[in-house]
Amino acid sequence: MRIIKIFDTTLRDGEQSPGASMNVDEKIMVAKQLVKLGVDIIEAGFPIASQGDFDAVKRIAEEVQGAVIAGLARAKEEDIRKAYEALKPAHLKRIHTFHSTSDIHLKYQFKVSREEALKRSVEMVRLAKSLVDDVEFSPMDATRTEIGYLLEVLEAVVDAGAKTLNIPDTVGYTIPNEFGEMIRKIKEKIGERAIISVHCHNDLGLAVANSLSAILNGAGQVECTINGIGERAGNCSMEEIVMTLKTRRDFFNADTNINTKEIIRTSRLITRVTGISVQPNKAIVGANAFAHESGIHQDGLLKEKMTYEIIKPSDIGLSKTELVLGKHSGRHAFKARLKELGYQLTPEEIEVAFVKFKNLADQKKYIFDEDIEILLSEQFSKVSETYKLIDLYVSGGSKSKPMAALKIAIGEKIIDKIEYGDGPVDAVYKAIANAVETKSNLLKFEVKSITGGTDALGEVSVALQEDGKKVMGHGSDTNILIASAKAYLNALNKLLMRQGVNERLKPETDECCAID
Ligand code: KIV
Ligand code: ZN
Repeated sequence: MRIIKIFDTTLRDGEQSPGASMNVDEKIMVAKQLVKLGVDIIEAGFPIASQGDFDAVKRIAEEVQGAVIAGLARAKEEDIRKAYEALKPAHLKRIHTFHSTSDIHLKYQFKVSREEALKRSVEMVRLAKSLVDDVEFSPMDATRTEIGYLLEVLEAVVDAGAKTLNIPDTVGYTIPNEFGEMIRKIKEKIGERAIISVHCHNDLGLAVANSLSAILNGAGQVECTINGIGERAGNCSMEEIVMTLKTRRDFFNADTNINTKEIIRTSRLITRVTGISVQPNKAIVGANAFAHESGIHQDGLLKEKMTYEIIKPSDIGLSKTELVLGKHSGRHAFKARLKELGYQLTPEEIEVAFVKFKNLADQKKYIFDEDIEILLSEQFSKVSETYKLIDLYVSGGSKSKPMAALKIAIGEKIIDKIEYGDGPVDAVYKAIANAVETKSNLLKFEVKSITGGTDALGEVSVALQEDGKKVMGHGSDTNILIASAKAYLNALNKLLMRQGVNERLKPETDECCAID
């Protein structure tokens, strides 16, 4: 059975999704979860793009073990050296360098000849190879590149030391048969001298289909992101490619090293840190992916699951636990549940989590796994709480304007504010904004119920922007007004933490990928 390597680029291409941005601590949390998930390679970022990217790649290289850590670099000396500097502490490191090869890109964007592009690619692969053994090369916009020239570039960079050739469908243009044919020709030319990888974008909704077609034609690595997030319509979705290979092993005769039971937890973590929700009907990780509504289907399922279920929910880590915790559950049951959910906590951490659990159980009858996951993600979020909610009282009804009376701590200082608003959340947010004197703009406000029932834990996500910096904030509580206040304060605390962090070295335009 062939093992297809999974190269996760959630932290690099995924972070280029409109609206997604993660801070360094969140990236580390994601990288650690990706290791648990079993990905082979983590593309941690694009070190030359900004100081934040550089710091994130460096800290992941220092703190995350169990996967190869890759950093992206244009085929430029400064990029490659910067990537190497960030990756240096990693046990297993890879420099991923790229250069466009399509005439469209060479003529209109970079204004260089094919010969010049080939020469730069070879020279930069050689430079990367002098720094690390593991070098990957991508001919950007490969699927719109003339095949003869593409093969020439690929052959030359393999001779220069590239061990992986990644074929990007940069603009999501190709279709499965055509892409499969391209991969077959590359495989024929390169043989076993390098691993053929694919990197598909989803502009026509074909990223997963194209990647599967490439696997059938000899690709040994797939680049993908959790929940399929990424530039424009996104990238190939990791969970879809992995579960297709697992479910149709009979057809593909290939598998991955992914521990599929970690899929749902990873998906939820990405939703939480990026603020990008998964559509309910999304394959594998959507809320409805295992919900059967039709009476005929339900009847069949009751008789035999195989009738309408091709994947067991437990295979992706969705547990239908019989054991729901509540107010009367003791430390022992709580600890056992944490263990079953895969958390390895120190006794002190368990104690803190247990107190939070008991507080929640006082407000809510049944505590589900999703509730525990939210409690723990709050516990381990490393946002320092300069602004802290102490008390909140909200009143209002159909005949009286909503009013919020707020007490918050700002460092050592305690501040009281009263504000009226169009709605209760508006009143709360006005009171907070006045208390902390923020100049930030609220870009997004979203409320989600974590489990069912009117006593469910509500999770609020907000996106704030100030001076071009964007942050996500989260808060959860059984009272959604308190959850709303917590989310706003969480985002404001993150903005505070970001102050002092260097601006992006280069603007987030094409500049960051220009080759001059
Ligand atoms: O889509 C693309 O071409 C890329 C490359 C940098 C691999 O992301
Ligand atoms: Zn891409």
